[in-house]
Amino acid sequence: MQKDRILITSALPYVNGIPHLGHLAGCLLPSDVFARFNRLIGNQVLYIAGTDEHGSPCEIGAKKENVSVEEYTSKYHNIHKDIYQKFNLSFDYFGRTSSKENIETTQSIAKELFNNGFIEQREDEQIFSIDDNMFLPDRYVIGTCPFCGADNARGDQCENCTKVLDPRDLINPKSSISGSSNLEFRKTKHLYLLLSKLSDKVRSWVETRNWNKLTLGIAYKWLDEGLKDRSITRDLKWGVPVPLDVFPDMKDKVFYVWFDAPIGYISITKELLGDDYQSWWLMDKGASEVQYFQFMGKDNVPFHAITFPATLLGANENYKKVDTLKGLSYLNFNGGKFSKSAGRGIFADKAIEEFDADYWRYWLIKNAPETDDTDFSFERFSEEINKDLNDVLGNFILRVLKFYNSKFSNVISHDIIIGDKEKQIISLLQQKIHNYSSFIKSLEFRKAMAELRSIWVMGNEYIDEMAPWAIYKTDVNKAGQILAFAINLIRIFMIISQPIIPDSSLKVLNALNTSGDWVFDVEHDISIINKGHSFNVPEAIFTKISSDRVSELNEKYNK
Ligand code: MF3
Ligand code: ZN
Repeated sequence: MQKDRILITSALPYVNGIPHLGHLAGCLLPSDVFARFNRLIGNQVLYIAGTDEHGSPCEIGAKKENVSVEEYTSKYHNIHKDIYQKFNLSFDYFGRTSSKENIETTQSIAKELFNNGFIEQREDEQIFSIDDNMFLPDRYVIGTCPFCGADNARGDQCENCTKVLDPRDLINPKSSISGSSNLEFRKTKHLYLLLSKLSDKVRSWVETRNWNKLTLGIAYKWLDEGLKDRSITRDLKWGVPVPLDVFPDMKDKVFYVWFDAPIGYISITKELLGDDYQSWWLMDKGASEVQYFQFMGKDNVPFHAITFPATLLGANENYKKVDTLKGLSYLNFNGGKFSKSAGRGIFADKAIEEFDADYWRYWLIKNAPETDDTDFSFERFSEEINKDLNDVLGNFILRVLKFYNSKFSNVISHDIIIGDKEKQIISLLQQKIHNYSSFIKSLEFRKAMAELRSIWVMGNEYIDEMAPWAIYKTDVNKAGQILAFAINLIRIFMIISQPIIPDSSLKVLNALNTSGDWVFDVEHDISIINKGHSFNVPEAIFTKISSDRVSELNEKYNK
């Protein structure tokens, strides 16, 4: 079969701070499920992620921890990497935007943009904080919102009324770093990306996109309002230096973090593959055959649908650009935002200490914040884990294997007999596996999970209806045949569950001494485990979460 080439990127999380469950639910996990699924069905996958490491938040974070920015970003990069490994995220490479590859690639894309006439130098006035001895990024200037009167509006946007602001709009502006209002305007030179000039190119490209309504709506809204030129440099020390051979009077300036971050997708590929990166990123080197999927939080959609493609289009039309964008909403915790400072919500490092990755993966994908925000609570979490993973799936697996092992042995000694009931199951299962696959391919994770769960339910229904326990009393052989068929169901269930709950699936597949190759034809697969095949009975696969445990968890994480 012809293999598809699938490029998958997950928005690069900011390195400062520890990720919470929302980061996993709203970007990383769905991308991982998609990557695992595509590998499973035999596609060639390149799955890229990493940490977004530039910008003033890192400079400030490092100051607070009294370490160099390099030490600070390395420390948090490793924390991210370690956590994602524990959640079984299967990146082909997890890189960083502070790498030398990203510095080179960002500089060379900026040069291409300049040579093509899409970058211009302009002189600006910017707020300088005398007490902090630095130019203040817009969002570090705070004051009263001129539109709604909210205190503490940021210079880039008012969180209260969501209006986009310029720091000079603020009433009583001050530095959010020191609190000082000892501010003045100073002249400074910056590079501007001429998005207005790129607008037609971007529009023609958007017109060729087969995006969903929501994404197209966002893209056209931006285009219709008119793309505004954007400054892409900052007066900071930490970042990709502006190349002085092209811009000699721009010493001590770096590119804006949002300019170099998405270029990380390309440079991280380079770091992994060297020159072979071209076959994924350059259209004339094979990338025209690649299908490129990007996953991100919904606030990142305009950036990935317009700004980054504009950057690439302006630099060189030969760059691969996104085909499908998946923007996800947010995960809330007990009806509110996750907040480290308020001690609300469970962060990923703690989450993985409390429960195995598969519990989180299952719940967070089943409840993926696709159309609306999703609300997490330990009550809902425990309820669904207990019901779905324990009562439905785990219970089916264990009672079938234990019964066969105790009444017969751990070596199958019965034929797989296909009667009317089994025929029915085979055709329903074929249909449902098809639906499940289609939903994952179209990135509809909740629907995929509903289908998967209903497949698991079929196992219990089969066993309840055929009642091998009762039949055993009168027809031992028949009981054995029913169970042997059910053991093959277990195999199929675990194969298709691998993208969601990889550890548990592998554990059961290993116990069954069978491979995890994808199920294309249920009729064929249903008798793979047959006479002479041995298995082991795994100990508990999942354990229930008691209500006492839920109270404890609430005590701990919802202060
Ligand atoms: N760091 C950003 C965030 O966490 C996402 C950057 S996506 C990239 O929201 F494309 F710029 F890398
Ligand atoms: Zn406001």
